[in-house]
Amino acid sequence: MSGALDGVVAAVTGASSGIGEATARALAAEGAAVALLARRRDRLEDLARELGEATTVHEVDVTDGAAVAAAVADVVARHGRLDVLVNNAGYGSMTPAAEADLAEWRTMVDVNVGGVLATTHAALGPLTDAATGGRGVADVVTISSVAGRKVSGPAVNVYAATKHAVGAFSEALRQEFAPRHVRIGLVEPGLVRSELTEGNGALGEVGELGVMEAADIADAVVYMVTRPRRVAVNEILIRPIEQTR
Ligand SMILES: NC(=O)c1ccc[n+]([C@@H]2O[C@H](COP(=O)([O-])OP(=O)(O)OC[C@H]3O[C@@H](n4cnc5c(N)ncnc54)[C@H](OP(=O)(O)O)[C@@H]3O)[C@@H](O)[C@H]2O)c1
Repeated sequence: MSGALDGVVAAVTGASSGIGEATARALAAEGAAVALLARRRDRLEDLARELGEATTVHEVDVTDGAAVAAAVADVVARHGRLDVLVNNAGYGSMTPAAEADLAEWRTMVDVNVGGVLATTHAALGPLTDAATGGRGVADVVTISSVAGRKVSGPAVNVYAATKHAVGAFSEALRQEFAPRHVRIGLVEPGLVRSELTEGNGALGEVGELGVMEAADIADAVVYMVTRPRRVAVNEILIRPIEQTR
């Protein structure tokens, strides 16, 4: 533990598995008190036990705006502040449009876009307060995707659309909040081994150099939020070494 985030309060959505869980671990390892948000309370409680008593559990569905507002208010009430928001909760199904289920498309929009909007909306006030307080800076990091930069094939249709949307939203937020010292960052991973990619077939036949681990993405988040306050790392595009698209 370096202690680079001692005294910092971070909230991570989708902390019950994959990149969110790894990010919560990595932030806690740097000294942050971490608020864990997701629907699977049992998973969050297991992680909170591992990370220690500074960790809090907030069972919430990010598609429910009122519940998200209440959860973020609870984070601030229990920790006294909020310095870092990691918008990580997400869902992706990769199906050609001709065979796609409209409900799957809606879920991707509701979680990947609606969830980011709801959480960010609820957190901007406390983050702005934190940026004007002791640390002098606050952070929103959103886990987008390579698919938020380019459309790598027809099956990424709606998933890519949702990730492009959060990219556009983040750039507008960056312009608005730069003068208030709330840094807005996007991490754009290529293929990562997780429940998401084990479930949607994206892992296919890739070898060990064709896929990253969740901890690799957590490293990128920690890098962003531990820069000196004069530095805002706006985007990190990160692929496994053998990923060509
Ligand atoms: N894996 C990749 O290759 C890859 C690449 C680029 C970007 N990403 C992005 O990385 C992020 C994390 O994905 P992952 O790969 O780590 O997948 P994952 O292991 O499936 O994790 C997804 C997380 O999102 C949470 N979540 C989903 N729907 C939710 C909802 N309605 N309300 C609250 N939480 C919800 C899940 O928690 P609960 O089910 O407990 O609610 C889970 O913790 C996503 O935004 C994804 O698009 C992944």
